[in-house]
Amino acid sequence: MNLAIIGAQWGDEGKGKIVDLLAPHFDIVARYQGGHNAGHTVIIRRDGVEQKFVLHLIPSGITHPGKVCVIGNGVVVSPEALLVEMDELRAKGVEVNERNLLISNRAHLILPYHAALDRQIEAHRGGNAVGTTMRGIGPAYEDKMARRGLRVGDLTDPATLAEKLSTTGKQASRLLTSLGGEPIDEAKLIDDGLRWADKLAPHVAETAYFLNNAAREGKTLLFEGAQATMLDIDHGTYPFVTSSNSSVGGACTGAGIPPRLVGLTIGVIKAYTTRVGGGPFPTELDDDMGELIRARGGEYGASTGRPRRTGWFDAVIARYAVMINGLDALALTKLDVLDELDELKICVGYRIDGRETGEVPYDAGLMARAEPVYETWPGWKERTVGISRLEDLPARAQQYIRRLEELSGAPFGFISTGAERNETIIAADVLNRCGWELSV
Ligand code: IMP
Repeated sequence: MNLAIIGAQWGDEGKGKIVDLLAPHFDIVARYQGGHNAGHTVIIRRDGVEQKFVLHLIPSGITHPGKVCVIGNGVVVSPEALLVEMDELRAKGVEVNERNLLISNRAHLILPYHAALDRQIEAHRGGNAVGTTMRGIGPAYEDKMARRGLRVGDLTDPATLAEKLSTTGKQASRLLTSLGGEPIDEAKLIDDGLRWADKLAPHVAETAYFLNNAAREGKTLLFEGAQATMLDIDHGTYPFVTSSNSSVGGACTGAGIPPRLVGLTIGVIKAYTTRVGGGPFPTELDDDMGELIRARGGEYGASTGRPRRTGWFDAVIARYAVMINGLDALALTKLDVLDELDELKICVGYRIDGRETGEVPYDAGLMARAEPVYETWPGWKERTVGISRLEDLPARAQQYIRRLEELSGAPFGFISTGAERNETIIAADVLNRCGWELSV
């Protein structure tokens, strides 16, 4: 059975670990949206030595020999960032070649001027800045929708690539200077383009055909979501969102597969909440408790190093993510971060302008005014790091988990108690009920 792994909050839920844990059970791992704004951290112990990988563009499956990784058409690809990532993986002994890394010819390119535009546009937004990763994600998707973008497939035709880069480079320079920025160096852009073409062309493929043919032959697909439901351009806290469909619908358009091939959907959700960048965050803790969670959880951006905003678990969001993505199960992560707390709060609803609701408001202004309605639960005050059986968790931790599950409306198929693969509780009964036999 195929599977999609989706972020259920505002990103950084620990999708990388769950994808890494499950990758051995699939033949192909595919990314379908976002770009190198994502940062999936994977920690692997090989021959007793711990290795940390922070992947931005390449699916987390790449560290598993024999798996094919696909960068789908819905992804925006920075050739420079991709080449750096490929080199870093190779330097750590990971095989990356034209058989295990395929890039859709339809994926749009992020060019250096997109990052320059991202910076200028954010500066002009002033106090309403989105707090983007400054990677050029938004401007690249803008060009795609405006039908003037360059695509990965353009790298396979060096004869016309230079001409296309010259045209788009001139347009970008006009836009950049009108925003107070510097024009781009067109000659350098073309030189870089030809270098990228040379190195990346062997990886360029018809990935929609590849994925559909593979499925027909009985191969299994794992779809790796980046960012998360609340950052989805349609369903998130617009305009404080990313520029792609990071909820499950993106898997169909962004990989070129029909809905029935998505299979199961698993949402990854932290035992508390974090967010980076601007925008509403009802359960945010702007106090010592927030700082404690940040410190214990190492809540600093994998891509940008920015401190993440922290807060209590928000069941309104969890329920929304279950609905939008049709989540069959959830993977709860970072439970151990809460081990020392005396008590925990869970947001069960919002009070907005005096009215209580259990729904996510469409408007960021309304959401910013949402006061969380909390339940308080006692902490377990015991170490849970590395526990791999549900019954070995302290009774109060089990109680907290059961309540989160009840409020979210989807069962926990996985509970992560540490960064490493084996520091995970796998609820085989839940997965079996979803129609999935899994023995890890
Ligand atoms: P962009 O995707 O760089 O345009 O940023 C838009 C918003 O999405 C900002 O609030 C970013 O902090 C957030 N964002 C983008 N990628 C990630 C991610 O991988 N994890 C968490 N937040 C992200």
